[in-house]
Amino acid sequence: MPIKKIAVMTSGGDSPGMNACIRAVVRTAIYNNLEVYGVYRGYEGMIDGDFVKMESHNVSNIIQRGGTILKTARSKRFMEKEGRQKAYERLKVAGIEGFVAIGGDGTFRGATIFEEEFGINCIGVPGTIDNDLYGTDFTLGFDTAVNTAVDAIDKIRDTADAHNRLFFVEVMGRDAGFIALSCAIGGGAEAVVIPETPTNIENLIDVLERGWYHKKSSAIVIVSEHDEAGGAFEIAKKVNAKFNEYDTRVTVLGHIQRGGNPTVRDRILGSTLGMAAVEALMEGKKNMMAGMINGEVVFTPFANATKHHMEINQQMLKLVEILSL
Ligand code: F6P
Repeated sequence: MPIKKIAVMTSGGDSPGMNACIRAVVRTAIYNNLEVYGVYRGYEGMIDGDFVKMESHNVSNIIQRGGTILKTARSKRFMEKEGRQKAYERLKVAGIEGFVAIGGDGTFRGATIFEEEFGINCIGVPGTIDNDLYGTDFTLGFDTAVNTAVDAIDKIRDTADAHNRLFFVEVMGRDAGFIALSCAIGGGAEAVVIPETPTNIENLIDVLERGWYHKKSSAIVIVSEHDEAGGAFEIAKKVNAKFNEYDTRVTVLGHIQRGGNPTVRDRILGSTLGMAAVEALMEGKKNMMAGMINGEVVFTPFANATKHHMEINQQMLKLVEILSL
């Protein structure tokens, strides 16, 4: 029996491009004569029956907006069987047979258990600024987050240079250094500190000293949050204990990286994967994430997308080192 009613939701941390994806899901569903429901607050809204039928006009004027019109949440209740049972009953009453979940690994793990228990199919779209999912070159929001962070780093460089200062700039990424590495290259940083590689404070000092003797008037170090050596404040303190030629400042960029209008790249990615996800549900696919590899849509089982990590690109690390000369 062909599927007739589907839902779409956003879950976990929001990311720019989610709205473009919601829009594509809704319009692709309507184009294919499916009924489509928007679930508010991710699994929380599913449990509470907080969903509404979406029409084409409900997704007008959102492609350019950050955040998510469906709101988002990290649901503790969905981790319990009781919560999932309630969610299933809500979907059953509404006649919803499958859903598109835009989120990260926690979202996809929840969807996998839910399908095993209740047979509701889910196709995932990777929505997180962290770019830490396997099975796609880029996650939704990564490009925007990096552009936002680099814009801030450019501004920091102006003032750093004016005062001959050393700045440690902390960026997000949870436990992945992809944002930091791209920011380091795009922002022309002297060095980058990421959780995937051991952090050696002596090496960091060597790089900064070399810059100092080469008459660099300022320096920027990008620190990915959750590095084993500490956050930007801690690393600055460790460096300053042995090297304090520059007056030092620390900036933590924080949630500014999650907001703002999505870049065109994120709008196109969200739109493409939204359409692909609906078509996959119509074909009976389940427990898979739609991703984009080398410009092609690729489906990866949730189990692989969440278990494996994309490798840090060693060439990019080398590039930071070379360009800091
Ligand atoms: O996963 C996205 C992310 O922004 C991470 O980079 C960050 O560590 C985390 O979410 C912050 O979560 P919260 O918004 O709950 O503080």
